[in-house]
Amino acid sequence: MGTYLYYYTGTGNSLWVARQLADKLQDAELVSLNAGKPGPLKIDSERIGIVFPVHMWGLPQRVIDFVRSFPADESRYYFALAVNAGQVAGTLLQLKKIMKARGITLAAGFDIVTPSNYIPWGGAATVEEQKRLFWQAEEKVGRIAQIVHRKEAAPIEKGPLWQNIILSSLLYRLSFPQVPKMDKKFWVDEKCNGCAICEKICPAKNIVMTAGKPAWQRRCEQCLACIQWCPQEAVQYGKKTPSYARYHHPEIKLADMLSGAPKA
Ligand SMILES: Cc1cc2nc3c(=O)[nH]c(=O)nc-3n(C[C@H](O)[C@H](O)[C@H](O)COP(=O)(O)O)c2cc1C
Repeated sequence: MGTYLYYYTGTGNSLWVARQLADKLQDAELVSLNAGKPGPLKIDSERIGIVFPVHMWGLPQRVIDFVRSFPADESRYYFALAVNAGQVAGTLLQLKKIMKARGITLAAGFDIVTPSNYIPWGGAATVEEQKRLFWQAEEKVGRIAQIVHRKEAAPIEKGPLWQNIILSSLLYRLSFPQVPKMDKKFWVDEKCNGCAICEKICPAKNIVMTAGKPAWQRRCEQCLACIQWCPQEAVQYGKKTPSYARYHHPEIKLADMLSGAPKA
């Protein structure tokens, strides 16, 4: 195998980006991180890439844990694609630092802008806006594929200095420890029919069906899969989401998500 592409995704954007890149590289195998630790790092490859969503201007815990499990390695080409809604900030610098501590060089780190899935701040973008972002992302992934194929070093992409300091260094550090308990704000309305898709899709196994309704267990990763994939749109977060349109990547289907989800 030429390239292993590890992906983590809540609403399919990162999976779609990983698939785009795999199509262009033609020698890549996708490995889901949604199902938990994927076992020992597959090192029978020349290149190892990670594709993940930016959460709160930094890395999701799952990505941190995964990278911290890497053995020291100077021989392979490591790269990353930070999928985000326009504020990558210092996320890839954080990844580079964690890798360096493991004895690994992040040779290239790319910022890929996609529609936002952060529903507490608003509903899905218009279809036109989504298409515009996907077109731009696809075009950029095409350029990335050439760099990755040649195993070239490229700059670690980052936001403006103020974002890296205020958002990634300050706000991320303040909010990150609160993430597991942020599921306190989830609730279900009368549309919930107990289908348990939320329980099945949750990568953290944080949802347990109790008396036919989901109960969140305070080990949330805030990927928002539960609210964004609920077929009834019955899962809510805080007060405003009942009026917000749901989002997931239009080409990624529930079955794609469930095939990468942890087994019950
Ligand atoms: C908890 C959370 C925090 C987020 N924080 C950021 C952020 O700091 N910067 C940004 O540009 N997008 C942020 N987003 C948006 C996602 O990074 C973006 O929509 C991404 O494409 C989602 O990818 P996925 O569908 O693979 O999960 C956040 C989303 C969530 C759920």
